[in-house]
Amino acid sequence: MTFPHKYSPRPTKTMPKVAMIGGGQLARMTAQSVIELGQTLRVVATDPEESAAQVTPDIVIGSHTDIEAVRKAAEGADVVTFDHEHVPQDLMAELVGEGVNFQPQPEALIYAQDKLKMRKRLQEMGAPVPPFAHLRTDEDVAQFWEEQSGEVIIKTARGGYDGHGVWAPKTLAEAQEIVRTGITEHEMTMLGECKVPWVVELSSLVARSPEGQGAAWPVTRSIQRDGICAVAMAPAPDLPAGVAENVQELGLKIARELEVTGVLAVELFLLPDNSLLVNELAMRPHNTGHWTQDGCATSQFEQHVRAVLDYPLGDVSLKAPFTVMANVLGAPETPTMSMDERAHHLFARFPNAKLHMYGKGERPGRKLGHVNVCGDPDGSIDDPHYVKEVWQAAELAAHWMAAAEWQDGWNPHTGDK
Ligand SMILES: Nc1ncnc2c1ncn2[C@@H]1O[C@H](COP(=O)(O)OP(=O)(O)OP(=O)(O)O)[C@@H](O)[C@H]1O
Ligand SMILES: [Mg+2]
Repeated sequence: MTFPHKYSPRPTKTMPKVAMIGGGQLARMTAQSVIELGQTLRVVATDPEESAAQVTPDIVIGSHTDIEAVRKAAEGADVVTFDHEHVPQDLMAELVGEGVNFQPQPEALIYAQDKLKMRKRLQEMGAPVPPFAHLRTDEDVAQFWEEQSGEVIIKTARGGYDGHGVWAPKTLAEAQEIVRTGITEHEMTMLGECKVPWVVELSSLVARSPEGQGAAWPVTRSIQRDGICAVAMAPAPDLPAGVAENVQELGLKIARELEVTGVLAVELFLLPDNSLLVNELAMRPHNTGHWTQDGCATSQFEQHVRAVLDYPLGDVSLKAPFTVMANVLGAPETPTMSMDERAHHLFARFPNAKLHMYGKGERPGRKLGHVNVCGDPDGSIDDPHYVKEVWQAAELAAHWMAAAEWQDGWNPHTGDK
């Protein structure tokens, strides 16, 4: 779903310069799209060995909390955008005063930085959110615990990722302890949310440009394991009638109301009655959108670059009826087989697997890369065998790359299971 662009060219003599704060895999993959535009992504990385710093020569070494580093990255850049949402607001306010063009703008980004502010703002605009409360004292926790009949998730308002900063306490005393520790030892703002009995987790992936053009990718389903995104697939199979449209409309509405620019991922819970609740927002390319690299006409990385530069947005139609992305998550014990040899085996078994590795060292649970598998063009997501086959291939491939082990017992020499 793409809306028309009001044609308003911005001719400059050279191709524009994009700077991204953060040197992780999202910046690394954004760099690939920037190269296609005839440019080089500038990256603020903490270390020359970071994922994105390995692939671009235009690096500013420094922290995202160091104004000097961000100022240096902004010099001569047409736009400064983000690989993560942890850049302090006061730093951005000072640089906006100096004329730096952040996209998304800090006023929008705050809702991806602070889960409590996000919940309040979404509630105001009438977007569906789970019951929540700002928790300051033992009494607050006790009251919220009672209101939610003990179905409570505790979160830090800021700084969480991959399940860090999210707890599911079993008792009130445990909940109080988590909140107390968060406030007193880590100076965190803590919030409680109703523990939602969701059926599946969905992502509404959309993009919006400063001039207001919007585009929504087909709806994505994601699966988290131990708080980390493990698998994402699109279009989400088995959705009840009307849900896909609601998901896309909700994403576009939030992007519009918050004036988000670039890619917005709205993480959603689908409930048993087919209603939706917003979990959280990310204003950058998102793990659940990696499938678009191979499964869509325009990847989320290219779209993010187009959007923050206020170019017309790209086509978001599917290239395959079904695509599954599985993350390569570092195995509990690093295999002795090299990554190179694992890649050989992978491609021998799955010639259609698209491997995206991030150049990171292996560590248990670390996101090292991902595999995208697109289904055959003549398949259909209404065919459960087809869905299962593509899904299994992606999971087998990703697990193989992480652990050098075929989970289905496949023998590379005989081809038997
Ligand atoms: N209110 C809730 N009810 C039920 N499950 C929840 C709730 N909030 C979070 N979860 C589960 O915990 C996971 C992580 O929560 P959340 O997305 O808020 O954390 P995060 O660490 O910031 O995630 P990310 O890695 O996406 O930034 C969710 O994907 C979901 O599976
Ligand atoms: Mg999340």
